[in-house]
Amino acid sequence: MIEEYVKQDYSHLLGLSGFSDVLLTDHFSLYDGYVKNTNALSELLRSEEPGTPKYSEIERRFGWEWNGMRLHELYFGNLSKEHKELGAGPLREAIEQSFGSFDAWKLAFSSIGLMRGIGWVVLYQDVSSHRLIISWINEHDGGHLAGAVPLLVMDVFEHAYLRDYGFKRVDYIGSFFENIYWKAVEARFIA
Ligand SMILES: [Fe+2]
Repeated sequence: MIEEYVKQDYSHLLGLSGFSDVLLTDHFSLYDGYVKNTNALSELLRSEEPGTPKYSEIERRFGWEWNGMRLHELYFGNLSKEHKELGAGPLREAIEQSFGSFDAWKLAFSSIGLMRGIGWVVLYQDVSSHRLIISWINEHDGGHLAGAVPLLVMDVFEHAYLRDYGFKRVDYIGSFFENIYWKAVEARFIA
C-alpha cells in the first residue's frame, strides 16, 4: 500500500508581518488542493492502463500538481515569524561567491521576481558544481534545474500577494525578504 502525501500544517505562519491571515488562509487552501490532486493523480496512474491517451494526459498533469504541492511546502517552509538576517557562514559565503555579494544576489532574486508572468523564483544549489543559481519557474513545471536542490523558494503567483498588495508586487517581495526563515534555507544547503 503506497502512502498518500500528507498535507503539512503551516498555521503557525498566521500573524506573519506583511501577510494578512485571510491571504495566508486562502493560500493554505490552495496548497491543500495540490496535495489532494497529487494523491488523486497518483491513484489514477496506478489504476489506469499505461499507453492510453487518458494515461498520458494524467502523466502530463502529474508533474504540475506535484510541483505545485512541493513548491508551496518549500515556500511556506522558508517563511517564519522568527526572522533573522542571514549571518556569516557557508551559505552566505556561497551566495557571495556565486553572485559577487549578498546585495547583488538579493537584487537579482528580487528582479527575477518582478518579471512579468506568474511563477516562482528559486535559488538552487547545483549538486555537482556546488554553484548557486537562480531560476524562474514558469507555472509550476518549467525551468527546474536538473540535479539542483531548491534552497529558497518565492511564490509570485498573484494569489500570493494580490489581496494584500494589489499590483505592487515589489512591496510583497520586500515583505517576503523580511520574513525569510534563513535557518530553513541553511538546512537545505549542502555545505
Ligand atoms: Fe501559491
